[in-house]
Amino acid sequence: MCGIVGAVAERPVNRILIEGLKRLEYRGYDSAGVALSEAGTLNTVKAVGKVANLEAAVAESGVSGHTGIAHTRWATHGGVTEVNAHPHISNNEIALVHNGIIENHESLRAVLKDDGYTFLSDTDTEVMVHLIHQLRQQHNSLLDSVKAAVKQLEGAYGTVVFDKANDNEIIVARSGSPLVIGLGLGENFIASDQLALLAVTRNFIFLEEGDVARITRDTVEIYDINGEPVEREVVESNISQDVSGKGEYRHYMLKEIYEQPMAVRNTLEGRLDGDRVSVDAFGDQANQIFKDVKHVQIIACGTSYHSGMVARYWLEQYAGVSCNVEIASEFRYRESFVHENSLLVTISQSGETADTLAALRLAKEQGYMASMTICNVPGSSLVRESDLAFMTKAGAEIGVASTKAFTTQLVGLLMLTASIAQEKGRDQSVIVNAIKTLPNKLEESLNMAEGIEALAEEFADKHHSLFLGRGSQYPIAMEGALKLKEISYIHAEAYAAGELKHGPLALIDADMPIIVVAPNNELLEKLKSNVEEVRARGGIIYVFADKDSNFASDDTMRVMNVNHVEDIIAPVVYTIPLQLLSYYVAVIKGTDVDQPRNLAKSVTVE
Ligand code: G6P
Repeated sequence: MCGIVGAVAERPVNRILIEGLKRLEYRGYDSAGVALSEAGTLNTVKAVGKVANLEAAVAESGVSGHTGIAHTRWATHGGVTEVNAHPHISNNEIALVHNGIIENHESLRAVLKDDGYTFLSDTDTEVMVHLIHQLRQQHNSLLDSVKAAVKQLEGAYGTVVFDKANDNEIIVARSGSPLVIGLGLGENFIASDQLALLAVTRNFIFLEEGDVARITRDTVEIYDINGEPVEREVVESNISQDVSGKGEYRHYMLKEIYEQPMAVRNTLEGRLDGDRVSVDAFGDQANQIFKDVKHVQIIACGTSYHSGMVARYWLEQYAGVSCNVEIASEFRYRESFVHENSLLVTISQSGETADTLAALRLAKEQGYMASMTICNVPGSSLVRESDLAFMTKAGAEIGVASTKAFTTQLVGLLMLTASIAQEKGRDQSVIVNAIKTLPNKLEESLNMAEGIEALAEEFADKHHSLFLGRGSQYPIAMEGALKLKEISYIHAEAYAAGELKHGPLALIDADMPIIVVAPNNELLEKLKSNVEEVRARGGIIYVFADKDSNFASDDTMRVMNVNHVEDIIAPVVYTIPLQLLSYYVAVIKGTDVDQPRNLAKSVTVE
């Protein structure tokens, strides 16, 4: 979703800003812009489409500056146009970029219009810059004007502002959208994601909710939600800088699919102790919490929600605790029942998804015994605001469609299941021993790529598809359908195979491919009956099946064999062929695999 980069330096910051935006491209956006200040002159350059378009436009304009702000926009209010792209400017004096949504923009706009401000764009953001400009006439400093302005704002913002009259400072404010200050030597930076600044610094200060800060080349002053000066910890990042390389791969998504055995190895490293999960895998207080827990409430969005759906099967079967899984945007807007000794678990690749974060904050007021996050980004809001954090070690995931984050989340959830089982005196060795085989099993499933690439040809002219699974493979079917729709734009639905008769059978014909996930488990015979129901109605079936499942390819059925795996880890292993299928279908269709239309990597607005 939207990205922010800002810098105040002695050297020209054009390159730093453009490079920073490029590092945020993976988040998804539709236009970009930059405002640069030099010797009392404020210049703005904007472009629709890729950051490369902006880069070319900046080069052509010849503008430069030692203070600047830049933005990638993912449209919410107002279409994808240069005028609506950020930065927004008030009276050719103040420049501002914003992530988030200002909910009371209409009432603010009406007041500002009455006061003589002219609005050029259709965005909610433009009210902020005019409001700050208006308040600037009453306050001694830009800092005080921003502090006064945020008091009038409802909604979410991460915002960065400067005034060309005093361009040795930038003012930033955070509420609901993350911002991180990057510390340099004689220069300082701001961004919505530390990845944007890794080329210029490793030292970061993560702003907290309600913080406002004044940043100059040599100083950083931070004020908390009550306006009091605060010190915030400086964190040294050890995240890999190498987020730009696709290496030998054509797309980030393919690279990330192939990184999964390594990502799982990294996630397991140092966290297993013989046939047990090591006591400190989930943090100091975890043991007591796992002993006492009777219920787990999982909250997540998108792909992360699907990993939670799988975990419900595991936690109830192997750990003997009840489990509910809910989409964050639903959970946060209803009155839900809090079970006795309930552990709240959020799952998120980014740790910044607006709905998941809001759900965590709500749950903290509701009497859960503790909160835990399974997350891929150190220092993210979910990690900082949860009692316990299990960090997946997938590394930076750039492709919008999540792959290695999902499989490492599943690993984290398997370890959570084993840890709770352990504390409840149950046998968890079967889980741990199966987990250990995962990296090799994932490698084996990647060997299916060539066959799946050939199979993908048959999907390219299809408009609809149906994914079927049973038990813990049902969420894997859901994840397979999500991947296909995200990147190939083919309508894909997933059903628990037992539900076929209750509706989807009406859709079956030769133009509707049916994808079936069929490991050799106790539900296999039931699943085979479901497959026959589809065949009897003329459907073409694509089965991903255990070698011993005894499916045979013929005119109406293509069988892709998957090596045998322990039932408990089968959901992780069967994910891989479905990812590969979506990938190759998308490549054949020529879609933008890494940045599919209309989607964002990190959804920081609700
Ligand atoms: C977006 C991304 C998905 C992701 C979802 C939840 O929709 O495109 O890939 O699964 O957000 O994000 P999170 O970072 O919370 O896992």
